[in-house]
Amino acid sequence: MADTDATIANDAALAAASVQVERASANKELRPSIAGFFDEATYTVSYVVHDPATKEAAIIDSVLDYEAASGRTSNGSADRIIEYVKVNDLTVTWLIETHAHADHISAAPYLQEKLGGKLAIGKDIVRVQEVFGKLFNAGTDFERDGSQFDHLFTDGETFRIGTIEGIALHVPGHTPADMAFLIGDAAFVGDTIFMPDFGTARADFPGGDARQLFRSIRRLLSLPAATRLFLCHDYKAPGRDDYAWETTVGQQRNENVHVNDKITEDEFVEMRTSRDSTLAMPKLIMPSVQVNIRGGRLPEPEANGVSYIKIPVNAL
Ligand SMILES: [Fe+2]
Repeated sequence: MADTDATIANDAALAAASVQVERASANKELRPSIAGFFDEATYTVSYVVHDPATKEAAIIDSVLDYEAASGRTSNGSADRIIEYVKVNDLTVTWLIETHAHADHISAAPYLQEKLGGKLAIGKDIVRVQEVFGKLFNAGTDFERDGSQFDHLFTDGETFRIGTIEGIALHVPGHTPADMAFLIGDAAFVGDTIFMPDFGTARADFPGGDARQLFRSIRRLLSLPAATRLFLCHDYKAPGRDDYAWETTVGQQRNENVHVNDKITEDEFVEMRTSRDSTLAMPKLIMPSVQVNIRGGRLPEPEANGVSYIKIPVNAL
């Protein structure tokens, strides 16, 4: 804990993020409008975040529907987002991925074709491309330099959605490249933390690290207590009947079953590691990772014009 606290005390990006939240909490015009779209097939929440003044918008963590048995993709989830964007007359400037997801395929290329916007992810995606490029024995034509994306965010980088301020925070642990995006007073935290009654994301994928995840979460929970947190997934929790995906820093610090203020780093690592060893791989990890490290594009078609998803046997 001492190390983490010392690091946070010298954290310029976090300090800037905290100031941003305070400004937005005090002034409604600096807060974005947010719509969440829940995909029950993969328990994923996608968001459209927009500036009411300029109607500029970002789409975060979209889902392409994928039927594993037939290998068929469809656009129902993405079309719901397109409908919302059109009805509200929004201009999409960003298509943001919090990380290379292992449980669903991104619809970002489809949305980009229909709506425009720059496709962005954290700059450490290159490390994820390296690890999974090897696992899937991707050829040299698979670039491991992040060039499939239009923009690679770095820790502390600022951006805007219309007049609303944003700042990107690197929060590795679930994967090396996870980012959280703070927009006004709302943080889109990807797969770091889940609802207080469910806990945290797993840290056992290739390149994941439970200790790093704890430090990333504590960093996020050093934002002001009123910071709104929007999660990438919800699985309900024992005793809860409805899906939920919005909470606050204050609520997480008091109530999160894995990382409230009373839990130490070592206790978390012990709990996370033993729990992860009991979890099966996500059903869609093979197609998801292969497509998402390519910016949501299918692998190059073979000579017959068909794209194939590979399954490495006995490798994961
Ligand atoms: Fe994930």
